[in-house]
Amino acid sequence: MSSDPATAAVRIPRHLAVIMDGNGRWAERRRRPRAIGHRAGARAVNVCIDFCLERGIEALTLFAFSSENWGRPEDEVGALMKLFLGALEREVDELDRRGVRVRFIGERERFSEAIGRQMSAAEDRTRANTRLHLTIAASYGGRWDIAQAARSLARDVAAGHLDPDDIDERALASRMSLAELPPPDLFIRTGGETRISNFLLWQLAYTELWFTELLWPELDAATLQRALDDYSGRQRRFGLTGAQVAPAPTNEISE
Ligand code: IPE
Ligand code: IPE
Ligand code: MG
Repeated sequence: MSSDPATAAVRIPRHLAVIMDGNGRWAERRRRPRAIGHRAGARAVNVCIDFCLERGIEALTLFAFSSENWGRPEDEVGALMKLFLGALEREVDELDRRGVRVRFIGERERFSEAIGRQMSAAEDRTRANTRLHLTIAASYGGRWDIAQAARSLARDVAAGHLDPDDIDERALASRMSLAELPPPDLFIRTGGETRISNFLLWQLAYTELWFTELLWPELDAATLQRALDDYSGRQRRFGLTGAQVAPAPTNEISE
């Protein structure tokens, strides 16, 4: 690991996964309703997308609403749904213009028809874009994801298309959400909690984790850059030894 900026190779994550946490506390600290925090949080989403576009990050996955968040008070869930619908109506043109492909993962059936329709329209509209793959995890849970992948394989077994002995990690991975993307290289969670909260359980197996106390509505490019700098200095070993994964020396000094 090199801390010398002259020699440290800058490594950009291909895929960034983010838990956008802290909206409620941001509002409560200002003695405002939690919904105001969610509205401020929606602005921070644009900060994050802009950053990814500027840095050439290929894929961004944002945790917007968990399976468990449906259990929050009705008025908060209602406010979030309104915001969600508004953002879909407002932002998709601009995302499309900037070459962003938008997709949603999660239990879509739990949303209203209007939201479901907007989600599909956003996906159809941006399908050909390749500059940034933006995935919004909404009504998403990592446990749900594993269960739906298992169910999908079980259906193939029941139909006689798949031998249970052929079910391995690769088979399950192919049915998980985000199967077509490389797994996240870097995970960021704002809001100070150091937990995964049922986000991408399968896909985060070897992701580098980074946490900040900053609340999501306060997000700025400098904070995201700190996460990238930290990531750039880490050695990812994937179970191997440091020597195995170290790049071959290029300018050895002979004695
Ligand atoms: C994250 O912020 C947004 C959602 C979960 C929808 P929170 O609403 O969880 O904010 P805190 O953690 O209560 O501050
Ligand atoms: C995780 O945040 C979900 C999202 C940010 C969408 P939560 O606020 O729901 O997580 P916990 O309850 O603190 O674990
Ligand atoms: Mg929270």
